[in-house]
Amino acid sequence: METIEAIRSRRTARRFSEREVSDELLEVLLDAGLRAPSNDHLRKWEFVVVRDRDRRLELVDRVSRDRSAEEARSIVEGSGMSDEEQKRMYVDAIPLQRRMLVSSSVLVLPFYYQPRDVLGPRELSDLNYFASAWCVIENVLVAAASRGVQGVTRIPTEEERAYVKKAVGAPGDYDFPCYLSLGYPSEEVSAFRQVAVDVRERVHVNAW
Ligand SMILES: Cc1cc2nc3c(=O)[nH]c(=O)nc-3n(C[C@H](O)[C@H](O)[C@H](O)COP(=O)(O)O)c2cc1C
Repeated sequence: METIEAIRSRRTARRFSEREVSDELLEVLLDAGLRAPSNDHLRKWEFVVVRDRDRRLELVDRVSRDRSAEEARSIVEGSGMSDEEQKRMYVDAIPLQRRMLVSSSVLVLPFYYQPRDVLGPRELSDLNYFASAWCVIENVLVAAASRGVQGVTRIPTEEERAYVKKAVGAPGDYDFPCYLSLGYPSEEVSAFRQVAVDVRERVHVNAW
């Protein structure tokens, strides 16, 4: 598949089929991640790969239990969101936050070198390690989409972040940006659409 086509076909999946992402394919996807641009030239990124369901249940232990559809609706109604498509996405996503990490073919926990506290930046360049980590994640997602695999990221709460780092034994100067769950999406049609954006309406020539 052409790269542009892969980028266009990428979408977040939270429901997965039973089909396995093979070890060989996963290696190709993570290798694509490791080819991202890196702020310090060193590509100091690592992945913890977890397929085992019991181990995954341990690792998502601090993720709050899945909420019901009614709870999700009331959270969304109280949030002040006004875009209907956005609301539909959250109503769909909130009840799946734990399940989507356990029901995919594989849970990837990416780690990146982060020598200083990521939550105390003073200038943009202090965020370079974090920004590079997200280049890695996007590379994996696009490479996955090129092979029919989709995924979802979940940003950990502070409690989840500390818990996962300890649970996998990550070195102190490595950090955990997100859970990354990957698999072949289920056939189920989702109740919301991606937001359509016309590039010509977002490009400004010479000034905004
Ligand atoms: C930085 C970032 C954080 C995200 N966090 C979550 C999350 O915590 N839980 C979740 O279900 N999806 C999460 N997502 C997925 C978004 O909800 C999704 O990308 C968005 O709805 C657009 O849909 P698309 O990816 O299909 O284009 C996150 C995406 C990004 C880029």
